Amino acid sequence: MWASTRTVSLQGAVGHVVDVQVDVSQGQIATNLVGRADASINEARDRCRAAIENSDYRWPTSRRITILLSPADLPKRGPHFDLAIAVGVLAAGDVEFPPGALDDVVLIGELTLDGRLRCVPGVLPMAMSASARGINRVIVPEPQINEAALVPGVEAYGARSLRQVVALLTGAEVVPEAPPVEPPTGQLLLSWRGEARLEDVDLVDVLGMEDARFALEVAATGGHHMLLTGPKGAGKTTLAERLPTILPDLSPEESLELTAIHSLCGALPSATPVLTRPPFRAPHHSASRAGILGGGSGRVRPGEVSKAHLGVLFLDEFPLLPSDVVEALRQPLESGEITIARGDEDATYPAAGMLVLAANPCPCGEYHPYRRDNRCTCGEVKRREYRRKLSGPIADRIDITRFVEPVKKHELRDKLARPESSAAVLARVTRARQRQRARYDGTPWRLNAHVPGPLLRESWPLDEAATQRLDKEVYGGQLTRRGATRVHRLSWSVADLRGLAKPGLDELEVALRLRSATPLDLAMIGGAA
Ligand SMILES: Nc1ncnc2c1ncn2[C@@H]1O[C@H](COP(=O)(O)OP(=O)(O)O)[C@@H](O)[C@H]1O
Ligand SMILES: [Mg+2]
Repeated sequence: MWASTRTVSLQGAVGHVVDVQVDVSQGQIATNLVGRADASINEARDRCRAAIENSDYRWPTSRRITILLSPADLPKRGPHFDLAIAVGVLAAGDVEFPPGALDDVVLIGELTLDGRLRCVPGVLPMAMSASARGINRVIVPEPQINEAALVPGVEAYGARSLRQVVALLTGAEVVPEAPPVEPPTGQLLLSWRGEARLEDVDLVDVLGMEDARFALEVAATGGHHMLLTGPKGAGKTTLAERLPTILPDLSPEESLELTAIHSLCGALPSATPVLTRPPFRAPHHSASRAGILGGGSGRVRPGEVSKAHLGVLFLDEFPLLPSDVVEALRQPLESGEITIARGDEDATYPAAGMLVLAANPCPCGEYHPYRRDNRCTCGEVKRREYRRKLSGPIADRIDITRFVEPVKKHELRDKLARPESSAAVLARVTRARQRQRARYDGTPWRLNAHVPGPLLRESWPLDEAATQRLDKEVYGGQLTRRGATRVHRLSWSVADLRGLAKPGLDELEVALRLRSATPLDLAMIGGAA
C-alpha cells in the first residue's frame, strides 16, 4: 500500500513543498526514513507511532514501512513534518481517505505523544510557499489558523488532534475535543509588550538639535542608515527611539513579509497575528551573536537584524559590540539580507531595516575634542581602539553621520521655541515616500536607500550641474564610488522631502554634508519644512 501527503520545508525564509511518500509492504519489519531529514524529523517516527496508537488507530507493526521525503536532495528540518508523516502512514495502512483528498492540501504540525497537535514556528511562510506552488488548502494547529489565513487565497483549517485532521480529510464529523495545545509564548511576545513604552514618545519632547532632527527625517524618508555620535547625555538615545514615530505604516504586502519573519521565531499571537507597524528593535550590546544576527543551536532562527526588517535596528553604544558581530553587519548593510552558515546548509533571511548606530566619543563618554575642561579618563590608546569600530567597512556603508551636541542652556529655557511634533514630521515623510513609490513603480524597490547604484545613475540621475559636482568629488578622492552612490540616494531623499522633480546642486550639498558629518546651515534645514 502506498500514499503521499504534502508539507513544506523551510530553508531560511524560503519554503519548498515536500512530498511525503509512505510505502507499507511485506518484508523485513522496519521503519525507514529517507531523504536528508534532520534529527527532529528522525524522532518523528517515534512520535508518530505513539500519536497514532494513542489516537486508537493501528501502526502497521508487522510490515516494512518506508517513508520517503522528496525532493531528496533538499535538506529538511523541523518537527512540523509529524502530521504529514502520520497521515501518510494512516493512508498507506488502515484508514480510507476519499480519492484525491490528500492531493491539494498541505499538512503542518507537530504531534504530541497522545495525538494532539502542537504549534510550530514558521506557519505563515509555509502557507505562503504552499500558495505560491498553487496549493491553497492548509491544515495547521488550531491556534495558528489566523496566521495561515493571512495569505490571500489560502483556505486554512485548524485542528486540535490527529483524529480531527483525519475527520477533516475524510469528510467525517469533526468531534470536539480537549482544549488545544497552547502555543509557547516565548520571548517574542514579551518583547512586543516591552515596546509599549515607546508608544508614548514623541519628537515634541526633543528640544533644539535641529541638525540631527532634520537628519532623522531624511533617514526616515529614504530608509538610510545613520550614525549618531556625541558626548554622554547629548540626546542620541532620545532621538533614535523616536524614529519609529515618523515612519509610515507598512503596506499590506510589507506587513505579510515582516510577519512571516516573526512567524519563523515562534507562533504568532492568535488574536492579531499581523504586524502593521515598522518594527523597532534595540538589542543590548551584550546580546549573543546568534541573537543579533540569527542562528542558534538546534533550529536556525532569524536574529534581531531580520526582526527589524522594514523597520529600525538600533544599536546603542555600538563600539561595545564584539568585533565579529560588527564585521558580520556588513552584509545586511550592503544587501538587505543576511546569510547564516551552519554545517552544510546556509539560511538566508531578509534584513532590510534601517540601521541606526549611536556611539559615545570614548568608553567613559566624557571626551570632548574641543573643550578644555575635558573630563575624559580613558586615555588616547583606549579611545583610539574604541573608535576604530566606527571607521572602515561599516562607516563606508553608513549614509548619514551626525555629531550631536548637548542642547544649550538657553535652548532648554526658551519657552517660545516649540519643537515640531512627530505627527507633523510623519506627514512630510509619508508624502516623500509616496513620491518614491510612484517613481519606482514596477521595480522591486520602494525606498531610495535600496535602489542599486548603476540603475540609479542611469534611470534617475541628478541634474547636470549636480552630476558634474559629484564626479569631481570622486575624481578628487574625497568620495569612494560607494560613497558617491550613497550621496546620490541621499540627494533624492532630500529632493523628495522638498517635493522636487530632480535633485540639484542644493540637494547634493545637503547630502554631502549629511554623509561627511559636516553640520548643516539652518537655511538648508528650512528647505524641507
Ligand atoms: N534635546 C533634548 N531635549 C530634551 N531632552 C533631552 C535632550 N537631550 C537630552 N535630553 C535628556 O537627557 C537625558 C539623556 O539623554 P540620552 O538620549 O540618554 O543621551 P545619550 O544617549 O546621548 O547619552 C534623557 O533623559 C533625555 O530626556
Ligand atoms: Mg544613550
